[in-house]
Amino acid sequence: MNQYVTGTVIKELREKNRMTQAQLAEKLGVSDKCVSKWETFRGYPDITLLEPIADVFRISITELLSGNTVHNENVSANMMKSEFYVCPVCGNVIHSMGEAAIHCHGIQLVPLESEPADERHIGMIERVEDEYYVRIDHSMTKEHYISFVAEASSDEMQLVKLYHEGNAEAHFKIRGVRRIFFYCNRDGLFSMDPVKGIDDRESGYENNRERMELEKTADMLFGGKLPG
Ligand SMILES: [Fe+2]
Repeated sequence: MNQYVTGTVIKELREKNRMTQAQLAEKLGVSDKCVSKWETFRGYPDITLLEPIADVFRISITELLSGNTVHNENVSANMMKSEFYVCPVCGNVIHSMGEAAIHCHGIQLVPLESEPADERHIGMIERVEDEYYVRIDHSMTKEHYISFVAEASSDEMQLVKLYHEGNAEAHFKIRGVRRIFFYCNRDGLFSMDPVKGIDDRESGYENNRERMELEKTADMLFGGKLPG
């Protein structure tokens, strides 16, 4: 955590908000030269300016001082933008609908970036009536195990906590499921497309509209084509 607002933070916020030094100066009632000095480490904004600066950038004073700002637009609109945070000390799992500044055991947690399932973390998805049965081919020992499996749809998130004494498996209602995530305590977060994860023909998803919509959503959210 920074001790006080730094020039780097002010510059980053100003650029992110597409403001010139002059525009920021005008909003704060100071000279352009002042802003330039802050940004080049030749001075600090007076303490009475902290609140106005935070207001201009629509952030809290805590964020301004820590340099950890959170930008969430339309958080509730899409659960697909979900983030997972896992505490490396206690294994606490936190789900957030967008970016957040989260601490556990005194550690600022970072949102986990998911990787496509790999050969050491193979996820299998089967349709069993109206459910997806998800099984991960992976060890479940105290040292190395799958600690949760989750599914995300546009308006819902289901998270199943796993324990190393149990199996690496979970059941999810099929309706709306767009993405399946699972977390290995050692190797991190993985994700799978449930449509690609099962036999397309059998599922009836092949080339139909829902399939195409899913492709489009995945493309938008995860960038690039779906694997396979
Ligand atoms: Fe692993």
